[in-house]
Amino acid sequence: MKQAAARAALDYIELGMIVGVGTGSTANHFIDALAGIKGKIDGAVASSEASAERLKKHGIAVLGLNETGDLPLYVDGTDEATKHLHLIKGGGGALTREKIIAQASEKFVCIADESKLVDILGAFPLPVEVIPIAQSLVARQIVKLGGDPALRPNFTTDNGNIILDVKNLKILNPVEIEAQLNHIPGVVTNGLFARRGADILILGTAAGTVILD
Ligand code: A5P
Repeated sequence: MKQAAARAALDYIELGMIVGVGTGSTANHFIDALAGIKGKIDGAVASSEASAERLKKHGIAVLGLNETGDLPLYVDGTDEATKHLHLIKGGGGALTREKIIAQASEKFVCIADESKLVDILGAFPLPVEVIPIAQSLVARQIVKLGGDPALRPNFTTDNGNIILDVKNLKILNPVEIEAQLNHIPGVVTNGLFARRGADILILGTAAGTVILD
């Protein structure tokens, strides 16, 4: 189902595009599918070192966002999605670069299998990237918001930071909670993609792919 969703995202590729590419197993299926039409694109911007490596192995040019400027298209997976196209991302720890590329992209196509579609976000622990010296301050502030933060063990982000995975947050208003978390000093990014959610969600289901937009 992930692979079917990834392949369906190829429909959004146009000749000469530079494509934003996400991180995770579904994004990996997309990278592999992209390799089949690599002559059609001018290159890719990757949201993680891991995705950059995979793109390069396929012979796809990897460019930096500072050189490309805004992108026409970003394709990435998700950990949870609602029918409003609000997301929780960051299970793979690449949330900050993912959020930067999503913001820089005209169209964000999210690809996922049907298990990722939820009514209310938050069963998946919300990843929050934090500058290391702020770990306990940020954790205390998150507890005040009703969350239950846990340090992701043995993990450092591509940006040299830690991740707190937050359970038990009632995410009824994702736009508000995204902003509240971002206002805590020491928080780099949180995994709520609500202010800039997806534009299109391609879900792989047992009955075929379904598109929500
Ligand atoms: C990476 O940091 C995440 O945002 C991924 O998009 C997310 O974890 C989805 O991963 P899978 O495609 O492996 O389910």
